[in-house]
Amino acid sequence: MQLQMQTWAEVERYLETSAMAIMPIGSTEQHGPNGLIGTDAVSAEAIALAVGQATQTMVAPTIAVGMAQHHMAFKGSMTLRPATMIQVIGDYVGSLAHHGFERFYFINGHGGNSATIEAAFQEIYTAHTLASSGSGNEPSVRCRLRNWWSGGRTRQLSKDLFGDKEGRHATPSEVSVTQYLFPDHIKDVTMDPPGPAAAGGWTDAADYRAKYPDGRIISHPDLSTPAAGKKIFDAAVAEIAEEIMTFGKG
Ligand code: NI
Repeated sequence: MQLQMQTWAEVERYLETSAMAIMPIGSTEQHGPNGLIGTDAVSAEAIALAVGQATQTMVAPTIAVGMAQHHMAFKGSMTLRPATMIQVIGDYVGSLAHHGFERFYFINGHGGNSATIEAAFQEIYTAHTLASSGSGNEPSVRCRLRNWWSGGRTRQLSKDLFGDKEGRHATPSEVSVTQYLFPDHIKDVTMDPPGPAAAGGWTDAADYRAKYPDGRIISHPDLSTPAAGKKIFDAAVAEIAEEIMTFGKG
């Protein structure tokens, strides 16, 4: 159930029986030699829509630009500032809470977003607590963060399929998912094996590009296939659909 495909009256009826919204959130950033710039946003959105379908849960519009400053030395990447993203998340949640939504299940496509999403949740809870008068015991909204790849079965599947070729950014697992979802946009690119992981992480965009010149981090996305992507997608959707039902009751 996609919010944007409902009428206001349909949303009103939905709220009579459910107060849960799925919030897809991703990033718009380079994904190595053959990965789509939208990988983290389009994958989170597709998984969210499938989970919404399986569980009859409303899916909000995707937050498609996230924390990607370290990818900005690659053309096409876009980023929000952390403070902006915290406000965007707060306004998305606040708008829906205004109508009666109470539980917000964020399906995230980009690990780099996690700290800022958690900070946004703290802003939401803090604003509620400080605004409360009297006992301050009125219930707040509830938010949860779920990275789409982090379920046990999904992780194991990636390990079985790609082992130590998975790497850390522009992975064959995520590129496979986009190849399954968007077969018309599979890129035929030859690439050398990746360079080694740099010690000590990275700081800004120039530093990242100096350490990872083609954008990926020790991954072999040339191993990506639509068939692998379908397996990973199906596993993630099944796992998240199970979990989301418990969130509604917690
Ligand atoms: Ni990604």
